[in-house]
Amino acid sequence: MCGIIGILGNDPVAWRLVDSLRRLEYRGYDSAGIAVSEKAGVRRIRAQGKLSGLESEIRNNSEPKGTSGIGHTRWATHGGPTTRNAHPHKSGRVYIVHNGIIENFKLLKDKLTAKGAEFQTDTDSEVVAHMIDDALSQGASPRDAVASVLSKLEGAFAFAILFAGDDDLLIGARRGSPLAIGHGEGENYLGSDAIALAPLTNKVTYLEDGDWVVLTRQSVEIFNEDNQPVSRDVSFTQATTMMVDKGRHKHFMAKEIAEQPDVVGHTLAEYVDLAEMKVDFGERMPFDFNNINRLTITACGTAFYAGQVAKYWFEKYARLPVEVDIASEFRYREAPLSDGGLALVISQSGETADTLAALRYCKQHGQHLAAVVNVPESTISRESDLVLRTYAGPEIGVASTKAFTCQLTVLACLAIHAARQRGTMDEATERRLVGALSEVPRHMNTIFDGESHIDQVARQVAGARDVMYLGRGVNFPIAMEGALKLKEISYIHAEGYAAGELKHGPIALIDEEVPVVVIAPKDELFDKTVSNMEEVAARGAKVVLITDAKDVHSGGASVLETINIPAADSFISPFLFCVPVQLLAYHAAVFMGTDVDQPRNLAKSVTVE
Ligand code: F6R
Repeated sequence: MCGIIGILGNDPVAWRLVDSLRRLEYRGYDSAGIAVSEKAGVRRIRAQGKLSGLESEIRNNSEPKGTSGIGHTRWATHGGPTTRNAHPHKSGRVYIVHNGIIENFKLLKDKLTAKGAEFQTDTDSEVVAHMIDDALSQGASPRDAVASVLSKLEGAFAFAILFAGDDDLLIGARRGSPLAIGHGEGENYLGSDAIALAPLTNKVTYLEDGDWVVLTRQSVEIFNEDNQPVSRDVSFTQATTMMVDKGRHKHFMAKEIAEQPDVVGHTLAEYVDLAEMKVDFGERMPFDFNNINRLTITACGTAFYAGQVAKYWFEKYARLPVEVDIASEFRYREAPLSDGGLALVISQSGETADTLAALRYCKQHGQHLAAVVNVPESTISRESDLVLRTYAGPEIGVASTKAFTCQLTVLACLAIHAARQRGTMDEATERRLVGALSEVPRHMNTIFDGESHIDQVARQVAGARDVMYLGRGVNFPIAMEGALKLKEISYIHAEGYAAGELKHGPIALIDEEVPVVVIAPKDELFDKTVSNMEEVAARGAKVVLITDAKDVHSGGASVLETINIPAADSFISPFLFCVPVQLLAYHAAVFMGTDVDQPRNLAKSVTVE
């Protein structure tokens, strides 16, 4: 999603802005731009497409020398991804970059148009530049102009605003979308996350919702939504200053898939005592699962599928009723929540707008709040009572992989903890399950040994129009995750189904052209899954069977390819079966030549609804 950087510096700022934008690339974007204060006015340079386009524009247009400026990577919402619609937007002295959506922009634009304003873009954001400029032209100071405009806006936003003729002033504001202040030595900064600010400073203040800030090189004044001065903590960010690189891999996604044995191991080490073979949440747990009558899990996309896997674990082992909902649905459906329930949100970025809204809904309705989050300084982390971190490290590929398996790791440990506390699991079972979890990294490594075979299978899937994924029980969400991975990065239409649901409709789609990926762990549902495989094979489907069973007696059904994975305790099957489906999607996309790390239309951190 869009990225913001603002710098009040002491050196020429153009390339510093671009460096920070480069660090925000992982969020997904389709155009970029900067505005730099110069003696002669503000120089604005924008380009459609990747940052290399913006870099060429800067080189070809005599580089700006000014020392203060703002920059933006845009993920289009209102108006196409063109140079004209790229930020910064301007009106008179005002230059603005915006993340989020101004929901009442049409009304505001009509009012301004009636007063004679002329708009250069199709964006909602330009309206804000015009409104501030309008207030300035009526004699308001920049800070009063911004304060008056903020009160008229509806929706979600983070802004950085530059004023031509004042190269020692930057105003920022946040409502809904994240924004942080970076504190430097005789310099100050604004950034949409700590990763953007990391090369500039590790001293960061996260603005709270409704806050806005007036920055000069020497001063930082923060106001709340009632325009009262407030003080907010300065923290030392752990965001790495190193530019995360691809190592020996061709794509970040490949690197992140390969990192899973390590990062799952690191995450596990936080939550289990391997000497005793038991889960150990130390002093962190602020509530007792015996007092919790219901667990409500909300998340989006891949994180939602992690929640769906967790439902099987919590219900089976802890006998705790679980509801899992897509955050964008949950937040508006006015779900009744009884006092004392536990709301668990799952989010890699910790900034997903719908998940954050679901968390706030649960807070208003008296729930305990827990979050499984990868970015410790994110808004969701800061607003939760209990933060259970995943230790996946920065996930740069837009399609989530290692964050997912780390989420599963935390959720598996939490389910065991809940089961032990509620007395529904004995010590021996805990030891067995923790032992199985400790073997995940080793088994994952074995799966990588077969990657070249998965690559060959992926080439056969790559030409398909539709692909179906089937799974049962705890691996039904893995079927949906496999389908999501494939469609995200290869643009092949794919759906994941509960294998038993097949004959209630989807089987009508099956013909010789449709590969069906069957996820068949050797568990108590194995024979039923194999029966479903036979049903599709009998109708000509090209079956790709992923299994840990040694012999599959398929009753004569023809299987195009079998991907064998190591036999392991069925408790950890979602960890292991998700690796081949990730690799299948990855190699299909590479074969098809798509932009694997930044697939079209997608953003890494979805900070708008
Ligand atoms: C899929 C993917 C998305 C995210 C979803 C939630 O590969 O990455 O579906 O899982 O947008 O994002 P977070 O976890 O940041 O809340």
